Amino acid sequence: MKNFNMYEMIMKKRDGNTLQKEELQEAIDGYVDGSIPDYQISALLMAIFLNGLDQRETEDLTDIMLKSGDSISLDGIAGVKVDKHSTGGVGDKVSFIVSPIVTACGVKVPMLSGRALGHTGGTLDKLESIPGFNVFLKVDQFRTILEKCGMVISGQTDNIVPADKKLYALRDTTATVNSIPLITSSIMSKKLALGTDAIVLDVKTGSGAFLPDMKDGIELCKSMVNIGEKSGRKTLGLITNMDEPLGTAVGNSLEIIESIECLKGNGPEDLMTVTLALGACMLIAAGVEDDFGAAIVRLKKAVSSGKALDVFRDFIEAQGGDPNVCDNYFLFGNSNSEWELKAESSGYISYINAFEIGMCAIDIGAGRRKKEDMIDHTAGFIFHKRSGDKVKSGDTIITVRSSGKEDKKEVEKRLLNSIKITSAAPDKPELVYYFADKNGMWDWKEVSG
Ligand code: URA
Repeated sequence: MKNFNMYEMIMKKRDGNTLQKEELQEAIDGYVDGSIPDYQISALLMAIFLNGLDQRETEDLTDIMLKSGDSISLDGIAGVKVDKHSTGGVGDKVSFIVSPIVTACGVKVPMLSGRALGHTGGTLDKLESIPGFNVFLKVDQFRTILEKCGMVISGQTDNIVPADKKLYALRDTTATVNSIPLITSSIMSKKLALGTDAIVLDVKTGSGAFLPDMKDGIELCKSMVNIGEKSGRKTLGLITNMDEPLGTAVGNSLEIIESIECLKGNGPEDLMTVTLALGACMLIAAGVEDDFGAAIVRLKKAVSSGKALDVFRDFIEAQGGDPNVCDNYFLFGNSNSEWELKAESSGYISYINAFEIGMCAIDIGAGRRKKEDMIDHTAGFIFHKRSGDKVKSGDTIITVRSSGKEDKKEVEKRLLNSIKITSAAPDKPELVYYFADKNGMWDWKEVSG
């Protein structure tokens, strides 16, 4: 584009105007090749955060990001391939459970995943808690493992959507993550770079989501489904509850252990409800089932038969990890310190704030404050009491496994403030709210029966 001026482009978006595809192209290309500095892209991101992008601009940005690098072709690999992506949450370990279950039902599940972002955990960090596990695969390794095991999870190598890799890290440090067009383009550019037949999106809503407001979650879901479908992929979405942590474990190795327990048939109800709903969408998107009820029966059989756990063991081994972790949790190692959070009053637990728990997880070493920080894979929380449970003053609510470097009093105070105890039992929260496809959005209860 002749006479492109980054300063003028920032001004244009700052003042609420619409950007042309050529301008977005110049900005993204310049950022990836290093000719446009971080500070100008940060200003543009903030202008987008404040004034948004319309659907045409969002589609253009997604396309430019997708084409900033290579794609992974899955041509020649037999079977239907379906990817699942969550917008991020606290205790969200669904990928490790749903992928082997869906694979055991005959569908291939390849995923490109990311590290922890803000208060949310990262799929790659959790997998790295498995001794020996390799999260950075070359394209030919990725394809070989998918063919052999039916599932594979890798981080983005240098050439896959490099624009997102750079922008994601910058957004994480400039308070520009929580934006509908920026999340849409970040997620969909990665999803489209992988040659799957279908995509299933888990859009989180509630305190632990990047977009806590339901209205924003609905808009994000529609925006992503629209782009997926326009690109020729069957795309389905669910809006699910992330107001409270999912399951009983938060923290890297603890979440892998909980996932293995789910594959052994011992999963907590909330986590299994969300997992089965997403798994049913994956089977329907793959065209192997057309009824949600029948899909859920098939998924449950894959767990009770032990097939899903076998797939998970094979997957761990194929990616260099020690599959014996499935039988011996001591192989994950021990944390430096362990202490208990006790209830200070009696009653019912009526709310556990997911965002606050995510922030406390960073404090105890399970997440990063800065990009270069090391994660303690053994650190995290095990919840003994959850919303709806009765507690007596002095009962243990959480076992805290930590790096031992935290200010215990401060963490204890923040954890207690994030857990509400009331005299009356709370209502059971809804876990899956809406289902979306190319025709619109429906109440999940209505479509799932
Ligand atoms: N996950 C992503 O991949 N990108 C975002 O922007 C947010 C969550």
